[in-house]
Amino acid sequence: MIPVPLGIVHPGEMGAAVGAALSRTGKRVLWASEGRSSESAERAAAAGMEDVERLSVLAREAGTVVSICPPHAAVSVAEAVAEAARGRTGWAYLDANAISPTTASEVAGIVEAAGAWYVDGGIIGPPPHRPGTTRLYLSGTHALDATTSLATLEMEIHVVGEEAFAASALKLSYAAWTKGSAALLLTSRAAAARAGVEQALLQEWAASQPDLAARCEQAQTAAVEKGWRWAGEMDEIAVMMTTLGLPPGFHQAAASVFGDEG
Ligand SMILES: NC(=O)c1ccc[n+]([C@@H]2O[C@H](COP(=O)([O-])OP(=O)(O)OC[C@H]3O[C@@H](n4cnc5c(N)ncnc54)[C@H](OP(=O)(O)O)[C@@H]3O)[C@@H](O)[C@H]2O)c1
Repeated sequence: MIPVPLGIVHPGEMGAAVGAALSRTGKRVLWASEGRSSESAERAAAAGMEDVERLSVLAREAGTVVSICPPHAAVSVAEAVAEAARGRTGWAYLDANAISPTTASEVAGIVEAAGAWYVDGGIIGPPPHRPGTTRLYLSGTHALDATTSLATLEMEIHVVGEEAFAASALKLSYAAWTKGSAALLLTSRAAAARAGVEQALLQEWAASQPDLAARCEQAQTAAVEKGWRWAGEMDEIAVMMTTLGLPPGFHQAAASVFGDEG
């Protein structure tokens, strides 16, 4: 078992839902309001999380710090927690963000230098408000230890293996298709619009690819709401592709599609 109480940095849409699910099991779940928005404060309060106000307090009181933040912030959040926790031993740090194994390795190095055990994670599915929708994948030598402390009704936990950064690789391989194909669909329709053939494309989709118009609308809505965060995730996928000797260009382009939308 990894140590409790748990501390979540930070209670965004996903972090607050995970915090609420953990709170409902009776565990103390800490967060730090310093520097965060009123939206994060409202989500944390609704989730039953305990505000310790300062990150320096959270980094000393939480047995396990769980990072759930935008991918581009994963390293700076780890640095801030590590700085505040320096000198501690026997605590754990779980990064559950959509980051490449390369970035996860950087995060692991930062928190391990500050005395933590690193657990790699990746969340697939929407924020876990009810059972059956969402899976937390874990990997590394401490993954099995983490499953008991993190067990909730709403979120399934799967250990991918002892390979250090397998959970991050799984999350990004999954998102490479789901979000990558959304970007491709938006680009196909944008090309038709610019070429003056959008209505003709929609008619052809209706005849031969009847799911695509609705998928394109969903992709458009999601890109406007979350494009700024998804662009960082696409950059992380491109890093992973390069490391694996695969073409990074699909997801570099997807990052620019979402960056333009978000
Ligand atoms: N939402 C989903 O459906 C979903 C699904 C699967 C996985 N995830 C993963 O969950 C993670 C978080 O997603 P989310 O949807 O919860 O995002 P979100 O709703 O945008 O929340 C992000 C949280 O991080 C804080 N934050 C924003 N920028 C930051 C920065 N530069 N430094 C430190 N903290 C910062 C925000 O605080 P303030 O707003 O108070 O600044 C907020 O509390 C991502 O890695 C994502 O891949 C999300």
